[in-house]
Amino acid sequence: MGKLWEKGFKVDKDVISFTVGKDYMLDERLVKYDCLSSIAHTEMLNKMGILTDKERNAIVKVLKEIIKLSEEGKFKILPDEEDCHTKIENYLTKKLGKTGEKIHTARSRNDQVVTALRLYYKDELSEVKKLTENLSDALKFLVDRYGDTKIPGFTHTRKAMVTDVNTWSNCFIESLSDDIEMINAVIHLIDQSPLGTGAGFGIPVLKIDRKLTQRLLHFKRIQNDPIYVQNSRGKFEGEIASTLSMILFDINKLASDIIILSEDDIKIIIIPDKFTTGSSMMPQKKNPDVFEIARANYAKVLSLEMRLKTLPMNLISGYHRDLQLTKEAIFEAFDITKSTLRIMSKVVRELKVNRKNAEKFVTKELFATQKAYELVEKGIPFREAYKIVSKEI
Ligand code: ARG
Repeated sequence: MGKLWEKGFKVDKDVISFTVGKDYMLDERLVKYDCLSSIAHTEMLNKMGILTDKERNAIVKVLKEIIKLSEEGKFKILPDEEDCHTKIENYLTKKLGKTGEKIHTARSRNDQVVTALRLYYKDELSEVKKLTENLSDALKFLVDRYGDTKIPGFTHTRKAMVTDVNTWSNCFIESLSDDIEMINAVIHLIDQSPLGTGAGFGIPVLKIDRKLTQRLLHFKRIQNDPIYVQNSRGKFEGEIASTLSMILFDINKLASDIIILSEDDIKIIIIPDKFTTGSSMMPQKKNPDVFEIARANYAKVLSLEMRLKTLPMNLISGYHRDLQLTKEAIFEAFDITKSTLRIMSKVVRELKVNRKNAEKFVTKELFATQKAYELVEKGIPFREAYKIVSKEI
């Protein structure tokens, strides 16, 4: 079985493979979501009288079978099959004949792909939220064990004032909690059902029930305007990526802090040996590569965010094949964010703080500001107090 859009002439095979690109592989993660959306669509077609109960049951049964096959890694899409939507429809038609041919009534791959993607994003974002909470818990663990340990705070990468593990860890706990708010906000934003908007200009003639599919797919609301559904492709992905890159922004700083606080001459933070990597030449080295890669992943996700925000640029309203390329970028952004959060939680949970080294490193000049304020309390004007203390030091 061939393309869904074949109409009697042969399209150049190089053009096909160029336009399909990596889509057939990328779409493997959408199979389940496309089937779930197709099940809801089937229920609606049944309610509209386009599918009989018997036809509806047969289609739903095969769609569930596809979900199972896909979970077992047995529903592979071939380059020739273009994308998951084509593969699924062809499979239905092969199994059910004429009944399968009815499934594409009142829909287009354009609203189909947006629906499958949104369902996938909702799952991915809840997973990212869980993993962000885990990292926050790992930091709380540091607070519980070493919270009161005094450590130096830096400005300009030079020792500045005294702080403690509690304040330092909490700065990340607090920023991650803001990130979780951003995740919730973006979940709320994208939680709109695009199904039933067809190719981008609605469904003529047929009386569809968008409310029914919205409810069945557990979307909070309907995205009304059919053109906006297509125009929000790339826009919503950009919003998601911006949330993901904010998480990586925090991890970037956390990683840099850990790298400097565990540096050989400081050693306030101790990275367990099993989390360090070595040098091929210098026998003594134990390197913090894990934090370096985590830190660098911010740049990667940020560049994906830029790609997502520029791909839809200058397109007129409606669907364009350009939008297909947003898939790879957003999938990669999710993968990098999740793997970075996972490894950071694992390693941060087992970091140690060496109280003795911390004490040694918290030298008396770090209390200079404190001393000046003590003089202020005794009635000396701040500028004078500042001068007195600076002379002493
Ligand atoms: N693979 C396509 C995408 O992700 C699916 C939609 C195809 N629609 C089309 N009109 N060619 O954009």
